Amino acid sequence: MLTAKNIQTNISEAKEFLENNIQAKPELGIILGSGLGELANYINDKIEIAYQEIPHFPISTVQGHSGKLVFGQLSSKYVMAFQGRFHYYEGYEMSEVTLPVRVMQSLGLKKMIVTNAAGGINENYRPGDLVIIKDHINLIGTNPLRGPNISNLGPRFPDMSEAYNREWRNIAGKVMEDMGIARREGVYAALCGPSYETPAEIKYLRSIGADLVGMSTVPEVIVANHGGMKVLGISCVTNMAAGILPQKLSHEEVIATTEKAKESFIEFINRVISYLD
Ligand code: HPA
Repeated sequence: MLTAKNIQTNISEAKEFLENNIQAKPELGIILGSGLGELANYINDKIEIAYQEIPHFPISTVQGHSGKLVFGQLSSKYVMAFQGRFHYYEGYEMSEVTLPVRVMQSLGLKKMIVTNAAGGINENYRPGDLVIIKDHINLIGTNPLRGPNISNLGPRFPDMSEAYNREWRNIAGKVMEDMGIARREGVYAALCGPSYETPAEIKYLRSIGADLVGMSTVPEVIVANHGGMKVLGISCVTNMAAGILPQKLSHEEVIATTEKAKESFIEFINRVISYLD
């Protein structure tokens, strides 16, 4: 594990590098989940920076993640979008998984949209549905804030009672209605992965109140809340969770569903951004 001092040095070196490569400060950060990276192609007047150019940035290894940071205009806001995220199951340290969020914070951003591909536990969901994350359950087995607290980043014991901003959830819900799609909100359970869940694990997750399951997002959202950011979380249901349907789960199915859902995902995120204060 990195020391607090090394983590701070890494954040500030990544920040300095980015500041030297952009003209304006973005106001909103977006983390794009598996198969959802295409949104970044809709950013205007883009500056693209490959992760390998950014000091201390790990390189993402999952198929469907291309690993670059895109700055530019989206729905008349100046944004920074991370195309490709770092998962704990890939073997990264939590400080690496959450470095994008710390970099946003060090650049002064107060707003973040986080997206992911998720399995649907709630049987009212269908593959391709977009769901607003209303809360989460951390079952990864660790916490990104474990270790000495870096008090200039946030408090030792951050409140998590509204980890996903209520006002923004309402805005996102109205956008869904405007688009003629059902307003869906759910609780996201994060597990370490990389194996998908067993049917017994899915029954257990349903019994504790989870509607969605995935292997990401929660570390970034904890760190965003630690640093005082407003968060909106959106899941794209890519498959019904294990044991609900007879078929087996595969990453190919996950990516194929995001491919089908991407048009409505892109329209939805664009519309939401135009309403965020
Ligand atoms: N489980 C965990 N993570 C996932 C799933 C799933 O069913 N689908 C997409 N990401």
